[in-house]
Amino acid sequence: MARFASKLEGIETLYTFNDLVLLPGKSYVEPREIDLSTYAARGLRINLPFISSPMDTVTGSELAISLAREGGLGILHRNCSVDEQVEMARRVKRAESRIIRDVVVVTPDTTVGEAYRIMEEKNIHGLPVVEDGDRLVGIVTWRDIRYSDRGLRVSSVMTPRERLVTASEEVSLEEAKQLMHEHRVEKLPIVDGEGRLRGLITFRDISLKGRYPMASRDEDGRLLVGAAVSPFDLERAKRLDRYVDLIVTDVAHFHNENVIRAAAKMSREISARFVVGNLGTREAVLEVLSRIERVDGLRMGMGSGSICTTSVVTRVAAPTLYATIQAADALDELGLHGEIPVLADGGVRNTGDIALALAAGASAVIMGNVFAGTRESPGRLIAIQGKYYKEYYGMGSARARAKRAGLDRYSKPSKDIDEGVEGWVPYRGSVSDVVGELRAGLQAAMGYVGASRITEMWEKARFAYIPPQGSLEIKPHDIFIPG
Ligand code: XMP
Repeated sequence: MARFASKLEGIETLYTFNDLVLLPGKSYVEPREIDLSTYAARGLRINLPFISSPMDTVTGSELAISLAREGGLGILHRNCSVDEQVEMARRVKRAESRIIRDVVVVTPDTTVGEAYRIMEEKNIHGLPVVEDGDRLVGIVTWRDIRYSDRGLRVSSVMTPRERLVTASEEVSLEEAKQLMHEHRVEKLPIVDGEGRLRGLITFRDISLKGRYPMASRDEDGRLLVGAAVSPFDLERAKRLDRYVDLIVTDVAHFHNENVIRAAAKMSREISARFVVGNLGTREAVLEVLSRIERVDGLRMGMGSGSICTTSVVTRVAAPTLYATIQAADALDELGLHGEIPVLADGGVRNTGDIALALAAGASAVIMGNVFAGTRESPGRLIAIQGKYYKEYYGMGSARARAKRAGLDRYSKPSKDIDEGVEGWVPYRGSVSDVVGELRAGLQAAMGYVGASRITEMWEKARFAYIPPQGSLEIKPHDIFIPG
């Protein structure tokens, strides 16, 4: 066979979300009973397999908070300064917790004006007052300062130590609630035997816990959150490390010698879970796993994203469904499938696509477009002819590249070409509404397959190929739908 003609011999067919359906299977469960809990990274459990993309029109702290409360997880974008990204992570961690560890404090000689500013800026209503770094001497609340002279010192308006209600680390939620109720206070400082501040329990946090029973939380009851970094930006990763549960590399082509080397170093210097990507092939996954000591998850898919022009520009692609299967099989070979989660990233539009991704071996999906349309995404909202839309653009688009701070995913210094587009997506309402629809749709899909949990999707779901003409038949057809 001629040298180049042979390249066409036995070439692979790449199936995408559009090409496949799942065959029905016998079911023993009702959709509402189906368990959707899964892992976002090794050992990091979440209650729903929905993760939001690290893009500046998708995941800021507001969306990350709402999504984690519903049971999913947000990955904070990095199209901002390190300080801004750290602040987003801290906001998520402060949103609720059993014990707040990262307590914002003031000293006795802080002015009332300054305390007021801190409370407004951080959206908190009480500040423990400390001396020598962490020795608790009082607490100052919104009520204490609201009508006080801004020039006064906090020491003259605070509740002093001797009148404070405090508790030790061992206090249970019930006891804390009881104490706060008895003494009519909303904040309970946690102190050690030497009177040093170890944390803070707030009434608001305790009451929120009951409100979001599905929330994805860490051991301290705080919401889970991830953050994206460039594999070359070790400083950013280190700064974020203590505030986030997982660090996700954000690079269009992870299977690159320099990237792998940089990521290997990063994996040794951070303690948060480490998810790498994006990757597209089995060889890439095997090499990455053999060269990076600690990989806690794989972000799979290249070229399927709804805003992505990589494949238009380069004709290179590893569509998400294909890439997911490649990773799942590579992990299977090593006996690691199920231990290291595969995250299917890009091109996921609806619950049918999510079901296909899970059937292909994914533990969860990463979605940009779907979440960009929610109320909590940071993008602008506009009305066009009576309909609402939210702004959405690719991280490799001219728009994002112009804004980009620091080291880059797609752009200069390594590339001179845009690999993403910008536009508008329909407004979809709150994250809670969108997640509710996704959950119900996915449970229905799994019900048809006969899978009562995601690991059963891996075993039971069977694919079938549907030719393009066939795809038309399995959508609504021969009916006029106004809209
Ligand atoms: P969806 O389809 O959910 O895809 O909107 C989101 C995912 O697309 C990736 N991404 C990009 N890919 N050029 C690309 O080739 C870009 O400008 C771009 N921006 C984001 C990313 O993996 C995201 O999660």
